[in-house]
Amino acid sequence: MTTTTGTAAGHRLPDFPWDSLEAARARAAQHPGGIVDLSIGTPVDETPEVLRAALAGAGDSPGYPMALGTRELRTAAAGWLRRRLGVTLADPLGADPSVVPTIGSKELVALMPTLLGLRDGTVVIPEVAYPTYEVGAVLSGLAVRRADAPPAEAAGIGLVWLNSPGNPHGRVLTDDELRAWVTWGRAHGVPIVADECYATLGWEVQPRSLLHPAVAGDDHTGLLAVHSLSKQSTAAGYRAGLLSGDPVLVRRVWEVRRHLGLLVPGPVQAAMTAALDDDAHVDEQRERYRRRRERLAAAVRAAGLRIDHSEAGLYLWATRDEDCWTTVEWLAGLGIVPAPGSFYGPAGARHVRFALTATDERIDAAAERLTA
Ligand SMILES: Cc1ncc(COP(=O)(O)O)c(C=O)c1O
Repeated sequence: MTTTTGTAAGHRLPDFPWDSLEAARARAAQHPGGIVDLSIGTPVDETPEVLRAALAGAGDSPGYPMALGTRELRTAAAGWLRRRLGVTLADPLGADPSVVPTIGSKELVALMPTLLGLRDGTVVIPEVAYPTYEVGAVLSGLAVRRADAPPAEAAGIGLVWLNSPGNPHGRVLTDDELRAWVTWGRAHGVPIVADECYATLGWEVQPRSLLHPAVAGDDHTGLLAVHSLSKQSTAAGYRAGLLSGDPVLVRRVWEVRRHLGLLVPGPVQAAMTAALDDDAHVDEQRERYRRRRERLAAAVRAAGLRIDHSEAGLYLWATRDEDCWTTVEWLAGLGIVPAPGSFYGPAGARHVRFALTATDERIDAAAERLTA
């Protein structure tokens, strides 16, 4: 008999970082006005009716859904990409599809090296990054290298992750930066995958998709983009994401997903179709986040922190030019819990991340305490 010890069949997964915030949460909870937990970016507003009605209307779902997604969903996704991001897919309904739905985007991010069939080598991730890029590499037994610009040496690199607007810092990659990665990826035959799950949340800058013609030309070879309905449609509980781009790569991913049974439930596919056809609910939610961002950003600055980047996305990336855990302690004393920047890589160790995903009442409470 074989016994497996350690986590995840012996893989060296990073610690699940949120557990280390327990002491700060306990301290913040003692504040007479209650805790304002801004450490996790989970939406709190109601899921819009357009999704709920479509989900309920598709409740009769006896057969297996297709990993490929319904024709209606692929058509709606292609329409959304064209309308909102200026991206034209090769052929969403073709034999090699250029878009497939995913069960939220986190599973796709974590499984991407596996789905692309990478067996050895290195995955490049941003210097300061959403932790799941590293998790996916580790699970596939691959090495990780942090870089914000194309490395001079490409040997052994099998995949590059970009994230714009970025989590945690809200940085938007310029057209020149995106083009540099496209040129590098094509020169070395390395797929470039852009996680664009905050694409509709540009504040000071309009985020550009990797698949936009100004970046990619009219050819998506070697390029993939990841999108999510969690934040833009307040539907993280639905688990609804998209993968689009190079039809050869999308097919490779789709074929493995069929074998694994990674199927987006039929009613969720119906809700996604309705959501992707409707801009009004996205714009309405965006305005909610804009108001919270303005209120919180003013208070964070008034309290003496500097906000870096944060030109797009759902977070404020702030610093007091000290170790992030010192800032976390100070904020916990005010009953506020941010995420320490060290969760996202060594280069984040002097920042904290405030999520805008809290009710207006909690954002107001945080702002009052920061400016008192
Ligand atoms: C950069 C980034 N990518 C992917 C995800 C996963 O989102 P979801 O699985 O809800 O689509 C998140 C979630 O916060 C994220 O910040």
